[in-house]
Amino acid sequence: MAREEEQFEQIPTEICQDSEAAARIVAGEIAELIRERAEEKRNAVLGLATGSTPLPVYRELVRLHKEEALSFRNVITFNLDEYYGLSDEHPESYHQFMWERLFQHVDIPKDNVNVPSGTLARSKVYAYCDSYDKAIEEAGGLDYQILGIGRTGHIGFNEPGSTRDSKTRLVTLDPLTRLDAARDFLGEANVPLHAITMGVGTILKARKLVLMAWGQSKAGVVRDAVEGVPNENLPASLLQGHENVRFFIDPTASEELIRIRLPWLVGQVEWTPWTIRKAVLWLSKTVSKPILKLQESDYNENGLGELLIDSGPAYDLNIAVFNQTQHTITGWPGGKPNSDDSNRPERAKPFPKRVLALGSEPHEDILCMGGTVHRLANQGSEVTLAYMTSGNLAVPDNLAQQTLSLMSELEQEMDFRKGEGLSLGQYASVILKNIEEKNEADQDSDSTRRIKSFVRRNEARDAARILKIDRESQIFLDLPFYEKGRYRNFNTSSEDVDALVELLEKIKPHQIYISGGLADPGSVSGVCYHLFCEAMKRVRGKAWVKHCRVWSYRGVGQEWPLHEIDMAVPLSPGELASKIEASFQYRSQRSQFPFRAATHREIWQETDDINRSTAEAYDDVGMAEYEAIEAFKKIEIESLLD
Ligand code: F6R
Repeated sequence: MAREEEQFEQIPTEICQDSEAAARIVAGEIAELIRERAEEKRNAVLGLATGSTPLPVYRELVRLHKEEALSFRNVITFNLDEYYGLSDEHPESYHQFMWERLFQHVDIPKDNVNVPSGTLARSKVYAYCDSYDKAIEEAGGLDYQILGIGRTGHIGFNEPGSTRDSKTRLVTLDPLTRLDAARDFLGEANVPLHAITMGVGTILKARKLVLMAWGQSKAGVVRDAVEGVPNENLPASLLQGHENVRFFIDPTASEELIRIRLPWLVGQVEWTPWTIRKAVLWLSKTVSKPILKLQESDYNENGLGELLIDSGPAYDLNIAVFNQTQHTITGWPGGKPNSDDSNRPERAKPFPKRVLALGSEPHEDILCMGGTVHRLANQGSEVTLAYMTSGNLAVPDNLAQQTLSLMSELEQEMDFRKGEGLSLGQYASVILKNIEEKNEADQDSDSTRRIKSFVRRNEARDAARILKIDRESQIFLDLPFYEKGRYRNFNTSSEDVDALVELLEKIKPHQIYISGGLADPGSVSGVCYHLFCEAMKRVRGKAWVKHCRVWSYRGVGQEWPLHEIDMAVPLSPGELASKIEASFQYRSQRSQFPFRAATHREIWQETDDINRSTAEAYDDVGMAEYEAIEAFKKIEIESLLD
């Protein structure tokens, strides 16, 4: 029986504290199954997934093998899918992924591992797929299948349109899926068009199904799969009705579920200033009326009768939420000197403040808070912009090539020589040759990645210059985890945390701006946020930390919903125009951003839209009408230290 608050949910869904906690449960269940079967002298048959989502489960399984003697000798595995056209050795093939992440670290017999082949001739594919399904049946069927979910709602690579009874087969990848994989393949053009995947029908035959999802980008599809009507346009929704399916998700992936979004519709709510604000702002939006025009009947007719009883009348609720919302708006993000700050988001003192804006890559800060950065600097704060990673993985070859060609030409032009060693032009020629001779599957050489870092640095400098931020105020940390890693394969170390601690100690900031708390923990921004939390733990006892406030910007292409905003910084038309001009400088970021998939629009257009629509949202609930707004949520330092 579903609990009252889960009444809209058609699949049992557990919201775990974070992906690690969920992974411990899932890996624990798998380990129990393997051990039970070993005692019975039987095999355990696992269905496995790739991608970022299952990584914490694989880490935990490897730990259980190494530290708690979990043996995989009686385990047979079947992977969900493989890109068609990739050899087993291709670094982005799912064969490689599985061996690197799991198989090579445990004692599974090689012959027990099954990953669909991506290299069969087209004429052999049908028979091969049929034999894959038969092999699963011959092994006794899947005991435990783990799944991730794509933003198209795919499971395995069953894209929208896949039928409930579909079998293992060759499919065409959805453009959104290919765009999401673009970073792994260093460009959308390199992502294969097709894949072999277990069918929905194959998956539904598993005795136990567990789907996991982390991060805010999955919240919409999780909602549709769990609460929507099952349909073939969202293959994950076809899991509804399976007798043993569960979803394990983290809090950010749960944000769109009715029990989280509209808790007053599913049960009793504890009415705190925060839940009241969320409810009233939602009501204002739902009935399209400014807060101060909401009436008793609006509350009653939209499931908020209880709120009226608890904290009404409507007039009082309206005034309270109107004032709260009004008080989030400030033109002085660094605090307004010599003024009463009792109703302002930031303290007046000390002034000026030392401000540290952290970006996971060298574009995030300006895109998300360029107007605020400009204001802070303009109003006298000492602003430092620090980029945790170089971002070179996201630079297309042609931009590095352009820079290098320019360098070669410059040398010819100026007859520039550097003593005995390689001249600048020779150096450039070597790297140019490296890029030209590179195969699609090859990783960039360290020198190429250095050049790509320079590309990003220069974009960041150009953007900052437009916003009148000095060159000296920008710090490029180039954290080692990123320099040594590749997408989905980042390993952090204490060196990364040391670099952040050193920066924090040097600046002793009064304000820190950061994002990534809602991101997939395996993404660059998720990893950077985790490192930041680790660094804050190390400095927690320092005197400056007591006077430091942490403000979170939501991330590129996103903005906080109104009820989450603690500080809203309005931008004038001129400021917005400068910010957009600054955004033009990120040439390396064209066609890279997943959020542009649906519209194929450029990031400056998205930035413009987001900042304008936040201003409109304020206007709609009855606040003053601004051109654009950048928004921030206050993070309690204690919450970073858990
Ligand atoms: C991979 C697979 C896919 C992924 C999905 C989510 O084997 O079957 O369905 O689970 O695309 O990918 P991530 O986990 O990278 O977000």
